[in-house]
Amino acid sequence: MRAHDPVVLVLFGARGDLARRMLFPSLYRLAAGGRLPDEYAVIGSGRSAPGSDDEFRDSVRAGLTDSIDGVDDAVVDTLLPRLTFQSASADDGAALADAVRRTRESLGPRTTTLIYLSVPPTAMEPMIAMLGREGLAEGARLIVEKPFGTDLESSRALQQTIASVADEDSIYRIDHFLGKEAVQNILALRFANGLLEPAWDAAHLESVQIDVPEELALEGRGSFYESTGCLRDMVSTHLCQVLGFVAMEPPTTMDAVALREAKAAVFAAMRPLDPARVVFGQYRGYRDDDDVADDSDVETFVALEAFVDNERWRGVPFYLRTGKALDDKRRTVTLTFRTPPSPFPGDLPAPDELALELTDAPVATLDLNVKRPGPDTAVERLSSRLELTRSDHADDSLAAYERLLLDVIRGDQTLFARSDEVDRLWEVCQPVLDDPPPVQPYEKGSWGPESAVQLPGPRGWRLPDG
Ligand code: BG6
Repeated sequence: MRAHDPVVLVLFGARGDLARRMLFPSLYRLAAGGRLPDEYAVIGSGRSAPGSDDEFRDSVRAGLTDSIDGVDDAVVDTLLPRLTFQSASADDGAALADAVRRTRESLGPRTTTLIYLSVPPTAMEPMIAMLGREGLAEGARLIVEKPFGTDLESSRALQQTIASVADEDSIYRIDHFLGKEAVQNILALRFANGLLEPAWDAAHLESVQIDVPEELALEGRGSFYESTGCLRDMVSTHLCQVLGFVAMEPPTTMDAVALREAKAAVFAAMRPLDPARVVFGQYRGYRDDDDVADDSDVETFVALEAFVDNERWRGVPFYLRTGKALDDKRRTVTLTFRTPPSPFPGDLPAPDELALELTDAPVATLDLNVKRPGPDTAVERLSSRLELTRSDHADDSLAAYERLLLDVIRGDQTLFARSDEVDRLWEVCQPVLDDPPPVQPYEKGSWGPESAVQLPGPRGWRLPDG
């Protein structure tokens, strides 16, 4: 689908890391795929001294060359002339407001303004207030990066500021996990397959795991983690949003209103976390980072048990785990099925498991008990790999930020978090923020502290490859 009306995209943080690694490459890919409107302009902004537009374009070109293999100069050449830079700050946005007005005039009356706030958390509220003062937010779509506050109170304050300048239907809160094809595919698996949907409940499932280990440590990003920590960075955002997709009731349609309503209902039914069922870890060596306090007790790892207290899920534990400097980088959702009463002699080898790998080309592993060939009546375990993308369509896949930027251009809020979802997730996490468990050390390259390994009980975690 192609958006036809012109857009002007104002990008705060245009010289930052996210813009360089994700946003400009996404714009490039959208341009390469012919998915951008015929007429568009990008105004980079930030607090840095203006510099010339050419200098800005050169730095964007260098970033694209670094991050995209075999970058197509012809595409870059269509993109760069549409880029300009205009510095602005929370105190002074007048020149930027002028630049946006001029650009809108040149693009015509049907132009939509998109304002992307990729700024540090402390800058978010003052920047939004400035947008309000300068009249920039009026009629614009605001794209807000996480974190949405750092706890319930600050998130409510941020939301109040946002609501004072714009309506909820023009706010696009980014959680880039929702932009991943594999995460969206969870909905297709559930709601387009008669095989799976009837089994997706407490009567058939014993537990669910959402496991997102990461190999990278935080070297060089210590200051970011010192003010954030893993619970805020990963759990109250990405892992809970995935849980929302896994656990939601069938939405009446696949549109933004119905789908976000169904996801918000899951969060409303989530039981606030019990700090006694949460493990915090910190990898050995984290405190050596220059930006990290010598006695820091910031968590770089979280494992926890959560419950969704509704009819579908009552009594089914959801185990969530994520952390830095672990043994592997994976995003795995595992559904463990209840074991049926079995006429086969002896115990069955293990319960059935469906493990969804949320990789770029989504795949799943289905572990079943099958008959062992031969004259005896015995069963054994078999793991089968299921492709969840047709190979002839694999190239149509959009990277997460590419998809989300396209959706903002199209005005589709389906994959963005609503304010009540964010608020409820802070309520769910607040008991742990108020009473955090002690931080336990773990070795780099391990699977976290021992007590986390044991959290899901005797069957443990599916990963590494259980
Ligand atoms: C970001 C977090 O939102 O997501 C990072 O701030 C994390 O700490 C990253 O590493 C993981 O995203 P992905 O897409 O690489 O799995």
